[in-house]
Amino acid sequence: MIKNMMSLKPTILFFDSGIGGFSVYKEVKHLLPDCQYLYCFDNVGFPYSEKSEEVIIERTLAICQKIDRQYPLDLIVIACNTASTVVLPTLRSHFAIPIVGTVPAIKPAAEISVSKHIGLLATKGTIKRQYVSELIEHYATDCRVEKLGSTVLAEIAEQKLRGASVDLLAVNAELKIWRELADLDTVILGCTHFPLIKDEIQICLPQVKYFIDPGKAIALRVKKLLDIHTTVRPISETQNLIFCTRSFQYEATFRQALSLWGFTELRLLEHDER
Ligand code: DGL
Repeated sequence: MIKNMMSLKPTILFFDSGIGGFSVYKEVKHLLPDCQYLYCFDNVGFPYSEKSEEVIIERTLAICQKIDRQYPLDLIVIACNTASTVVLPTLRSHFAIPIVGTVPAIKPAAEISVSKHIGLLATKGTIKRQYVSELIEHYATDCRVEKLGSTVLAEIAEQKLRGASVDLLAVNAELKIWRELADLDTVILGCTHFPLIKDEIQICLPQVKYFIDPGKAIALRVKKLLDIHTTVRPISETQNLIFCTRSFQYEATFRQALSLWGFTELRLLEHDER
């Protein structure tokens, strides 16, 4: 008799518009290797950078609900700053499980900066958010805070993971406005795609001593929440699954990266295109 394979480990969904959320996922997986992981990238919606808040909220909620119906989730990580800065209240009102957001790490940046001149490097949407202004008002009153929004850098990171070589001139062109800021010593990587091109960003901003990537802090938060919420909803899958919202031809490099991160199969999640 064939038995259905059921996972009795906590199921965690990572959601992003693209592959940036892997920078968060890898830290969580490192700390919690025994969870059941699902990852969804909304490639129909990518990039979220300049999308309206309404569209981002609608897409994120609908996609998370759809996955939860098929694979009962125990925790969701919105591994996207652009979405997290607008969608968390809506998600929390629709789900009873913990929802962990990824928002710009203003507080740790303000604490570590010696010159008290810090930069928030994020998407064009994130730097405009009220949520971010409030974080700055609360935690960085003693700092000069520069904000730089880029859609191109997220696109470059996305291409890098698919095997393309990174065009340093293009990275430099995006960052050149900060190049002359000699005392800018701390930069917040406020888009989950950016840790994936941190080396290239660092080459273009040699004066910066600290790049703040929230991945490890998020992993600790996930662990703490799972310790509190001990019930596990079983799902009929035992392998980690990755979903996209539009099928595409993916190259060997991408396949290799996915399998390195523990994902063997890319599935299509149907969602209305807008
Ligand atoms: N990874 C997303 C973030 O952290 C943004 C990428 C996009 O523009 O879609 O904000």
